[in-house]
Amino acid sequence: MLQFNPELINLRELIDENISDLRLSSLKKEITMVSVVRKEFPVVADKNMTNAILRNLLNNAIKFTNRSGSIKVNAVNEGDAVVVSVKDTGIGIAEKAIPDLFRIGTKYSRPGTAKEQGTGLGLKICKEFVEMQGGKIRVESKPHSGSEFIFTIPASGSSEKRD
Ligand SMILES: Nc1ncnc2c1ncn2[C@@H]1O[C@H](COP(=O)(O)OP(=O)(O)O)[C@@H](O)[C@H]1O
Ligand SMILES: [Mg+2]
Repeated sequence: MLQFNPELINLRELIDENISDLRLSSLKKEITMVSVVRKEFPVVADKNMTNAILRNLLNNAIKFTNRSGSIKVNAVNEGDAVVVSVKDTGIGIAEKAIPDLFRIGTKYSRPGTAKEQGTGLGLKICKEFVEMQGGKIRVESKPHSGSEFIFTIPASGSSEKRD
């Protein structure tokens, strides 16, 4: 399995890289994707895990947003954590489905707005990686009014490391 390997990374750079990697699929749906993260944002985190979390969340945002929608990524320091959010203007999620999204053993997967298919595993992996880094993930969403996925990275790396 993946080892937790914290290192100093520039979060802004990692977000920008993921946005450019997904530029083609967002352009196809005429979706605007922007980062409002400040230029220098050093965090201690596992680069591969953080990358996978961002890619999954951005992929979902593109997948579940209609043509001409928009996606905004932000990161702020809040107390001793970094709070990262991926917010879209997409189709949103039914309230009763939300607990199933992150829980192993349940499955909830809808086709995207361009009929893209999925496995229903992406968010479970996100949760796993977020928690391995000592963070938390949650979503704020309502049908037809977009979704915001929010995860935290403890400022000093993993929770185990802080003990
Ligand atoms: N940004 C989003 N907007 C609306 N629905 C979403 C979003 N992200 C995830 N979902 C819902 O959660 C489900 C599970 O997501 P995920 O675990 O990534 O699996 P998959 O994308 O393979 O279906 C999706 O099928 C979709 O119904
Ligand atoms: Mg997905």
